[in-house]
Amino acid sequence: MTSLASRDMKLMDDSQPGVVPLFLPYVNDAMRANVADQLQTRWLGQGPGVDAFEEEFCSAALEGHGNAVAVSSGTAALHLAYILALESRGIQQGDGEVIAPVFTCTATNLPWIYLGMEIRWADIEPETMNISLPSIERLIGPKTRAISVVHYGGHPANLAGIRALAADAGIPIIEDAAQALGGRSQGNRIGSDAEFAIFSFQAIKHITTGDGGMLVINDPELAATARRLRWFGIDRKGKQGGTWENDVTEVGYKYQMTDVSAAMGRGGLVDLEKILGHRTTLLDRYSQNTKTETRTRILNVQPSSGDSHAAWLATIVVNQGDPASLQLALRNAGIEANPVHYRNDRYSIFDGRASGDCPEMELMDGRYLCLPVHMGVTVGDVDRACEVICGDW
Ligand SMILES: Cc1ncc(COP(=O)(O)O)c(C=O)c1O
Repeated sequence: MTSLASRDMKLMDDSQPGVVPLFLPYVNDAMRANVADQLQTRWLGQGPGVDAFEEEFCSAALEGHGNAVAVSSGTAALHLAYILALESRGIQQGDGEVIAPVFTCTATNLPWIYLGMEIRWADIEPETMNISLPSIERLIGPKTRAISVVHYGGHPANLAGIRALAADAGIPIIEDAAQALGGRSQGNRIGSDAEFAIFSFQAIKHITTGDGGMLVINDPELAATARRLRWFGIDRKGKQGGTWENDVTEVGYKYQMTDVSAAMGRGGLVDLEKILGHRTTLLDRYSQNTKTETRTRILNVQPSSGDSHAAWLATIVVNQGDPASLQLALRNAGIEANPVHYRNDRYSIFDGRASGDCPEMELMDGRYLCLPVHMGVTVGDVDRACEVICGDW
């Protein structure tokens, strides 16, 4: 398959009438007001606002479960999660392999390189582009130390199957739920029953803090360690409580969230259900409007009972015809579409680490595009995009 034209394509100019960009940040009045208020206080860095955001996040997004640790990005959350996943099993950094999805944002896999772990690439399931259970089954072995699972685009991965495999092998799963805020797996909010899960509040995610992330850990002691590691290895609350002289015994990072970011996040959380509802409506409409179109399919298989899609991405797969022509036809109609992620084993930074055995990814390569589903997209925009998809291209 030849490269998609998008690899050289400029972002569309959304100041032009009728142009629907692929991504757009969502900012509401509560976020604006919270930030303005926060700027009147003494807490611009990490303070009580971060604690409040963690609590409100657990109740709004995780039905009161989990121990949430707010950090500076989803990638920082993954780095800390991977450190703690290894430590919790007594594994030294650099010792052994991890199984990770070949298809994801590179941020899922980069922190494994920080820790010197060897990545074994797991293939995709063609129906969802999530990590494939049979592929994990083939890769798992005595050197496997952990499994990274991504809920691609917000579609819940096959957690029941993966958890059974991981439990047999005695290894941790780290759920990268950067794209799956508010989704459900087996009736539970994604992340609420995870050993380790992370979320991202990067500008274009369901809710944003400009940049930011949340690490969710079920073990409160490990969560306390994460709170120290995010701030130089120091218990910041203890320090705020008056303990100024203390030893530092762990190598920590500068990964904390600030109260200004938390103020944005708290405002965004107010609209979480509205955001999920809007995105899901648009994703379902893409599927409905194109269900008789045999050249393409939208990745929106009905999740199994108890699962629900968080609809961060609407992905279209082109089975027949040239995806670059579809992309151009959409663009000519003012709709921006793009593959967003590429298989990670192609990137030079991962060279020499890839096993390269991903036949389903091979078949999918160059055949998929993501369509806009953000809060600035209307049902009419989706209908317009679907007319293009069902027309000549
Ligand atoms: C699947 C996935 N993992 C991790 C990340 C990293 O999150 P952040 O940009 O907040 O570091 C992102 C998004 O950027 C993502 O889409």
